Amino acid sequence: MQWTSAYETGIVEIDQQHRTIVGLVAEFEAAIRANASWDRLYPLIARARDYAKFHFAVEESLMQILGYPRTSAHRSEHRFVLERIADLEQGVLRKSMLEELAPQFRTWLLSHFLESDRHFAGFARAAGVHVAQAAHAPAQPRVLIADADEQHRNLLKLLLEANGFKVTLAGDGLQALAAARDERPDVVLSEVPLPNMDGFALCRAWMQDAALSAVPFIFYSGHQMRQDQEQFAQALGAARYLSKPLATESLLQELRSVLPTDRSRSAA
Ligand SMILES: [Fe+2]
Ligand SMILES: [Fe+2]
Repeated sequence: MQWTSAYETGIVEIDQQHRTIVGLVAEFEAAIRANASWDRLYPLIARARDYAKFHFAVEESLMQILGYPRTSAHRSEHRFVLERIADLEQGVLRKSMLEELAPQFRTWLLSHFLESDRHFAGFARAAGVHVAQAAHAPAQPRVLIADADEQHRNLLKLLLEANGFKVTLAGDGLQALAAARDERPDVVLSEVPLPNMDGFALCRAWMQDAALSAVPFIFYSGHQMRQDQEQFAQALGAARYLSKPLATESLLQELRSVLPTDRSRSAA
């Protein structure tokens, strides 16, 4: 199985993930052809399972946020493939059956990419998730996202890159500060609860750093904030306090509103 542009859905991040899946399938097929032992096949299956779970979670979160009407049917298709992978792992399917099953699986995957994923991609584009044409734009604003939830980080990355931003990810406060000192972002979106250094401590360190203090700091948190905490965030120097989840268009508007005008135009 080999990737071709004919499989594209038009959403860059989804296509990149599909390309990775096709690569994993190709590796697995090559191993079957080489009559690889179960010991060699097993790690390939485990990797494909983890990656498929990640990819399906990204699509399904995006569907939920955008209110995609065919979410449950699409999710059943994802579940079907995860169940087949689980069958493989648990040895329900014997190795001798793999050669016969591989073409069926390839057909399933292609029909899912070309019909179900493409249908969803069309819906997502109509809802404002754009193809990242801004990859060639001269000044893409860089957003640093500090969030401990990997799935949420990746989803935000997908949405922002699709709308012309460059994205740096950090899983905790210390990582975020180090990443910002390494490459200064144009804006930061930070959770409040974070391992190692929480969002408040990060904001304080941010404002004390002469190289970073002019960079707008936005709290974007699933954590319901009391009014005194919101005032505290403002006193620390935060530009905004936003509650998750925000509709994509509103989040983009908030980001653009704190960016210098020349940059926000390039992200529009
Ligand atoms: Fe899908
Ligand atoms: Fe997909």
